[in-house]
Amino acid sequence: MIQDFSGKTAVLTGAGSGFGLECARIGAARGMNLVLVDVQQDALDRAAAEAEAAGAQVLARKVDVASATEMEALAAAVEERFGAPHFVFNNAGVGAGGLVWENSVADWEWVLGVDLMGVVHGVRLFTPMMLEAAAKDPSYRGHITNTASMAGLLTAPNMGIYNAAKAAVVSLTETLYQDLSLVTDQIGASLLLPYFVPTGITSSERNRPDAPGNEQLTKAQLIGQAMSNKAVSSGKVTAAEVAHKVFDAISANQFYVFSHPKALGNVQSRMENIVSITNPADPFLARPEIGAKLREQLRAP
Ligand SMILES: NC(=O)c1ccc[n+]([C@@H]2O[C@H](COP(=O)([O-])OP(=O)(O)OC[C@H]3O[C@@H](n4cnc5c(N)ncnc54)[C@H](O)[C@@H]3O)[C@@H](O)[C@H]2O)c1
Repeated sequence: MIQDFSGKTAVLTGAGSGFGLECARIGAARGMNLVLVDVQQDALDRAAAEAEAAGAQVLARKVDVASATEMEALAAAVEERFGAPHFVFNNAGVGAGGLVWENSVADWEWVLGVDLMGVVHGVRLFTPMMLEAAAKDPSYRGHITNTASMAGLLTAPNMGIYNAAKAAVVSLTETLYQDLSLVTDQIGASLLLPYFVPTGITSSERNRPDAPGNEQLTKAQLIGQAMSNKAVSSGKVTAAEVAHKVFDAISANQFYVFSHPKALGNVQSRMENIVSITNPADPFLARPEIGAKLREQLRAP
């Protein structure tokens, strides 16, 4: 639970775009030191220039969050420049779709590497630093927020690789919350669960060195891509609004942060199926015409 952010340090991954960039803007406005982390150099440069112009002390690093060694070097650089961070936002993420048996080993390594191992590295490297700061100073307060997705709670079809990565982040972060509360009252945790919010997420392959071209994608992957482009681009909640929720949750020590709380009925239905030992429901119950069209397209020879 952090109330006064001024002079405190935030480490933000995926800071070049979307939620990471919007959180950097809020951090700068609140007088924080900012560690901006992204794999895309031009986006990182723009974010760093903006934060510096807003008066923030900035450490900008091009890092692939999936890389253990790059993240270790980042953690050392943060400690040297600012000491233990107060807010760590493990947020960088990428998406890929397709029927779950269609994804290549490279697809799995890429998505699990960024979405899951990126969070793992952030947690394993920064939490000990924060615990040490907390032990030395009773007034120290820290907070770790990990970005999952509603996909981690709803197992929508044709995007299993992303669902699996995000479900793991849900589990890891709930456990982090419990583990932290075993050992300290000075460090909190939150889990960000966005639904469809317009950001750069639908073009994540821009940062994938071996990205398959459209001609290499399956029919299901092309359809999935078009469906998620449409859903994300027509989202009404903005990334800036979500970023404000992220900061409010730090101050309120609130664990679950939803961009679209109204979509929680879908989570409830899934949980009810689990506890009543009922098979998973048709994901297109609310819009049966979409399900019918998708089945028809996928079953056509
Ligand atoms: N926008 C949505 O609808 C939505 C929904 C659910 C979850 N999310 C999650 O939100 C998080 C942020 O995504 P966003 O929507 O702001 O998308 P975005 O593409 O706008 O921002 C993601 C940032 O992460 C960076 N990144 C990608 N791979 C990286 C790597 N290997 N190392 C370091 N940085 C890397 C990108 O360059 C980009 O700047 C992701 O974890 C995403 O899965 C987004």
